[in-house]
Amino acid sequence: MKALITAGGHGTRLRPITHTQNKHLIPIANKLMLDYALDYVREAGITEVGIIINAGDKSIEEAFGKGVDRGLNITYITQGAPLGLAHVVKISKEFIGEEPFVFYLGDNILVGGIKRFIDDFNRNGSNCHLVLSRVPDPNRFGVAQVEGERIVSIEEKPEVPKSDLAVTGIYIYDSHIFEAVNNIAPSKRGELEISDAHQYLLDKGYIVSFSEITGWWKDTGKPSDLLEANRLVLDNLVDRRLGDVDNQSSVSGRVNLGRDVKIIRSNIRGPVIIGDNTVIENAYIGPYTAIGRNCRIVSSEVEFSIIMDYCKIENITRRIEASLLGNDVRILRARKKPSTHRFMLGDQSRVEIE
Ligand code: TTP
Repeated sequence: MKALITAGGHGTRLRPITHTQNKHLIPIANKLMLDYALDYVREAGITEVGIIINAGDKSIEEAFGKGVDRGLNITYITQGAPLGLAHVVKISKEFIGEEPFVFYLGDNILVGGIKRFIDDFNRNGSNCHLVLSRVPDPNRFGVAQVEGERIVSIEEKPEVPKSDLAVTGIYIYDSHIFEAVNNIAPSKRGELEISDAHQYLLDKGYIVSFSEITGWWKDTGKPSDLLEANRLVLDNLVDRRLGDVDNQSSVSGRVNLGRDVKIIRSNIRGPVIIGDNTVIENAYIGPYTAIGRNCRIVSSEVEFSIIMDYCKIENITRRIEASLLGNDVRILRARKKPSTHRFMLGDQSRVEIE
């Protein structure tokens, strides 16, 4: 079995971070988002992986190469424009061939991997196997109506959902999916929708089965989803303390400190992960915070946030919370009077101050 993983798309909801960076390279608990997907497929015994990328985007290949060190053989498939998930499947026919395959949206993170879903697909002998998750807000998702072991209908973002079972970003197909994606028309927004392909399979009487995710699952489209995914992954953090903690600091809870980290006169309350070479001085780092490599956090407080590499936060009196900082971001106290707010923000930056 092969795997097809998406790493293209628009990423509009994660601007401005995605102006300069592919969203699948955003770190969740200091591990690249796409690395979770690659781990799951390898754990499921799959080594042949196709990754969908936008035209001209070299960053994914630069990060993962041919996948040899991950025990994988990665093929990059360029999607000329993000024309929808069914379009992704359509252009991947040559890579997939005739065999069943896993289609995995690279911005989905879940606990427990995907092997169990592949086992369910094989056991059911179905044409299409969808992974469902119970959600409190089904009207934001494709919602499945199930009878026994089968899905009987799927409605996209229904006003009155028939169940609380959302269709997640993990699908397993046999080659009938190509018949479906070749027979549907673009939607009003001009995309070939995967839910239309699923509806085609249902209409033609093909067997569409499902597994339900019992642990947590997160589709990380928005900044709040990233923070939530970061929180959920950090909840299972393994304690590891490679850095130096001075005797005026206190480190409690599960904390993972990278190489050459320095904790000076600070209070770290886990779960917290801090990348190599970062310095935390006279600061408080609170639960559910992931700080990248080569950062400096001095005389400031940070909690429930993702701070990427090479950031500087210095002398900020109010606690920074629920924040997402890209690479090389600086938040510093102005030295000169008058004490004003001075900003240099790229397009679509967001700042909230009192
Ligand atoms: P979405 O989250 O639905 O869309 P998006 O990534 O374009 O983001 P936004 O809505 O904020 O603009 O995409 C789900 C996954 O599929 C994600 O991994 C991106 C990928 N994708 C493609 O690779 N090609 C496409 O044509 C589309 C629509 C998405």
